[in-house]
Amino acid sequence: MTHSLRMSASTVTDRPAGADVVPPDAATAGTAGPPTAAAWPGTVGPGDGGDTSVNDVSVIRVRGGARLCGTVHVVGAKNSALKLMAAALLAPGRTVITNVPRITDIAIMGEVLRRLGCAVRFEVDPAVDGPAAAHSRTVTIDVPERPGTEADYDLVRRLRASICVLGPLLARLGYVRVAHPGGDAIGSRGLDMHVAGLHRMGAEISGEHGFVIASAPGGLRGADIVLEFPSVGATENLVMAAVLARGVTTIDNAAREPEIVDICTMLTEMGARITGAGTATLTIEGVRELRPVRHATVGDRIVAGTWAFAAAMTRGDVTVTGVNPAFLEVALDKVVSAGGLVETRPDAFRVRMDRRPTAVDVVTLPYPGFATDLLPMAIGLASVSEGASLVTENIFDGRFMFANEMARLGADIKTDGHHAVVRGRDRLSGAPVQATDIRAGAGLVIAGLCADGVTEVSHVHHIDRGYPDFVADLRALGVEVECGRAPEEPDLTL
Ligand code: EPU
Repeated sequence: MTHSLRMSASTVTDRPAGADVVPPDAATAGTAGPPTAAAWPGTVGPGDGGDTSVNDVSVIRVRGGARLCGTVHVVGAKNSALKLMAAALLAPGRTVITNVPRITDIAIMGEVLRRLGCAVRFEVDPAVDGPAAAHSRTVTIDVPERPGTEADYDLVRRLRASICVLGPLLARLGYVRVAHPGGDAIGSRGLDMHVAGLHRMGAEISGEHGFVIASAPGGLRGADIVLEFPSVGATENLVMAAVLARGVTTIDNAAREPEIVDICTMLTEMGARITGAGTATLTIEGVRELRPVRHATVGDRIVAGTWAFAAAMTRGDVTVTGVNPAFLEVALDKVVSAGGLVETRPDAFRVRMDRRPTAVDVVTLPYPGFATDLLPMAIGLASVSEGASLVTENIFDGRFMFANEMARLGADIKTDGHHAVVRGRDRLSGAPVQATDIRAGAGLVIAGLCADGVTEVSHVHHIDRGYPDFVADLRALGVEVECGRAPEEPDLTL
């Protein structure tokens, strides 16, 4: 792997004083509802890009000691649905995507598409009931003959995934201007592979005034592309560009995630000619036009994995439905190595743990390796396991920022470059902590379940970006949890 890693220095966050106490009645009241001002549908909130400048005053408080028990249903994957929505741009007319998670990032993507001239509607799917109905939506996207060509910074900074409109718009219109998304709280996030691949397909690409500007007035042409690293976003952008290019494109060292297979499946349903989805080599024969379709989003393996680790950490018994456990094979193997019992069915799995977990080492890698998005959960598990774990992060250079917050909960973590040594403790200690990204936020809430007293996680807008009503699921699994507001910040005007 030639991909280089730069690990960032740690950061320390200031917390309002006195935020760590749940009044006894509030802790049991089961009040609250969604943790933020529920940016759904249509409104936009902070999203990918780690925009922590947003004044988010909502918090989640959990009381430690719960044993997670019950069944939780997982809906469609955020990281698939966002790209499926972008893929809709490739065909004029009405595309319908079902099993779309009801989260802020999807609302922002809806807004990106509206500003490109699409009509976007989110609805409850009448064919769905139970928790899936509350946690998912069907999105109907009416794409005009000539969509707009510009995605502005105010949305792109909220949702880094908006960069995935680059490929489809360039392929259809021959010109696109998308704000440069920059890095975010999990690290620097380059675009060089997106740019180099599109350039090989004949696009002229420049950067000006914070925008990536791409043009291919004569249309894109097929090319042989070798990715330096199996980047998920670059693979998706290049596939979406190649489906309408003249001739054949091959992408070597392509990403193999289930979400890549999902987008290739939808594109094939639209009339694209793609072979090799799910392998390291994709071959795409360009076609003249595509047609709109109806497509169901693949289940979210990262949300499912979050519950698997939460069950193991709390010595619980949780059944997760709505996802193919084969997509989580390495993660579930880790749970088994830690002492858990895992049973699988084609679209569900059950995790049981009846003793203190044993320390296991974890190395994050592109799929089918251990997912970087489950790194906070792996660190959480290691923090309460018997023994020491070596955790290695190979994808994002800032993932270990989360370790500072875990240290506030009493976790014994030493980081060095892209490695962390975690020495397990019998119990963590409840404290106020701050979510720095989606997965860190969920990881901190779950770590709080293994802590004495109350843990208060602030900046929970991050969690809302990736987990549809996380609090309701926690409550359904037996956790004493409430949403609230952080205490007022003192007036520090001089
Ligand atoms: N990279 C480059 N140059 C590029 C593209 C990527 O250097 O042109 C680097 C990135 O900086 C990063 C690594 O390659 O260090 C991996 O990036 P990749 O492109 O694979 O990730 P992504 O498409 O930006 C998606 C998910 C992430 C998930 C990663 C890895 C979406 C919207 N995001 O990001 O999900 O962690 O793949 O699996 O699909 C999350 O959901 O919380 C999340 C961060």
